[in-house]
Amino acid sequence: AQRKQIDKVLALFRLTQEQLVGIRNKMRVEFEYGLKKDTHPLATVKMLPTYVCGMPDGTEKGKFLALDLGGTNFRVLLVKIRSGRRSVRMYNKIFAIPLEIMQGTGEELFDHIVQCIADFLDYMGLKGAQLPLGFTFSFPCRQASIDKGTLIEWTKGFKATDCEGEDVVDMLREAIKRRNEFDLDIVAVVNDTVGTMMTCGYEDSNCEVGLIAGTGSNMCYMEEMRNIELVEGDEGKMCINTEWGGFGDNGCLDDIHTQYDKEVDEGSLNPGKQRYEKMTSGMYLGEIVRQILIDLTKQGLLFRGQISERLRTRGIFETKFLSQIESDRLALLQVRRILQQLGLDSTCEDSIVVKEVCGAVSRRAAQLYGAGLAAIVEKRREDQGLEHMRITVGVDGTLYKLHPHFSRILRETVKELAPQCDVMFMLSEDGSGKGAALITAVAKRLQQPQR
Ligand code: BG6
Ligand code: GLC
Repeated sequence: AQRKQIDKVLALFRLTQEQLVGIRNKMRVEFEYGLKKDTHPLATVKMLPTYVCGMPDGTEKGKFLALDLGGTNFRVLLVKIRSGRRSVRMYNKIFAIPLEIMQGTGEELFDHIVQCIADFLDYMGLKGAQLPLGFTFSFPCRQASIDKGTLIEWTKGFKATDCEGEDVVDMLREAIKRRNEFDLDIVAVVNDTVGTMMTCGYEDSNCEVGLIAGTGSNMCYMEEMRNIELVEGDEGKMCINTEWGGFGDNGCLDDIHTQYDKEVDEGSLNPGKQRYEKMTSGMYLGEIVRQILIDLTKQGLLFRGQISERLRTRGIFETKFLSQIESDRLALLQVRRILQQLGLDSTCEDSIVVKEVCGAVSRRAAQLYGAGLAAIVEKRREDQGLEHMRITVGVDGTLYKLHPHFSRILRETVKELAPQCDVMFMLSEDGSGKGAALITAVAKRLQQPQR
């Protein structure tokens, strides 16, 4: 009887082929919706033009600063690009962003960022150098050019005041001015998906999609200009930041949304928003697991029916723990040890159940990613009138990198849902910093003749 109750919960996370096809098709509808002028204002998948119109061609060169804000780590980088041989050298430093700064005032956040830049310049012996800067800012921004980006709304763990509706490049410039110590030429603001696509595009010109499976969930791709109604001109292509994390915010995923998803949503910083992201990304998967464990414990099926203080604590199941628990090389005894480290006292049977729960949640996440990705590659194939298409997807993020099964299930799902596409996955080894620098280099080159 106990087994039955557990299976009933796990079954809520199982998606049939038919459901996945339905999700792929709905995602496709949302893409088209976001690209059209009339429907765009209502779109939950925002399809934001990025003003990145081409891949680097190998002639880029120079020294650049890059900032990378919005993933697990905040980094400041110095990127040296040499033309011809396509070699890139990078130096970077990771800085912490304390919670009270992530959720304090905008001024404090940007002052902190500038403080980190100052430390980095000091550390590199570059004080006083006037370098072009590319800003990887991994949140939804409305752009009117490559060097302007108005933050639409915060996502993930950020909630600093007075930033939404403001241009983040202006905010950064003002913070630099306040400090009055150095001058920087902010050339580009880019989403992490775009930086990732660029990094991979530098090595494989077939890379036309950027995917992040990390703290957050998002995808960008190269779209035909003629399909982008929000931007003048019909020639060539432009990269679109889909912000697919907001998929489902109009209720279109309600049929697969479970009570546990609801609880996670309600306990988040942005209730009602980023539904798809909350079902798929590293910041939330552990929370879904925790909600299920609480419920199973309440039903007396786990932890001897005792809900510990630990289990009540938000954020205990980080992506790295889920990844460890699901590793096949790990004996159950070791799973128990991990749970113990988390402060959860479990029996051997408990640890089997916990592992099953983690598996069900991460499997659904990978399948949902697969359905989304299948929607975009199919769209690209049809738009180009191809019977068959090969395409490379640049990927980054801790969930993709650390989880033992996520990438395989993602690949399998895409293959099933987009059988006419040959999708190659390319891991972005150096993060988005390199991509931001490449975009900055291209933007700089394009600026030159006008000066
Ligand atoms: C990093 C990129 O490698 O991956 C970041 O440099 C990106 O720009 C991040 O945001 C995403 O992964 P995570 O897991 O750190 O959120
Ligand atoms: C969130 C952000 C998005 C970013 C993604 C991955 O979804 O809104 O801009 O790309 O996280 O970091």
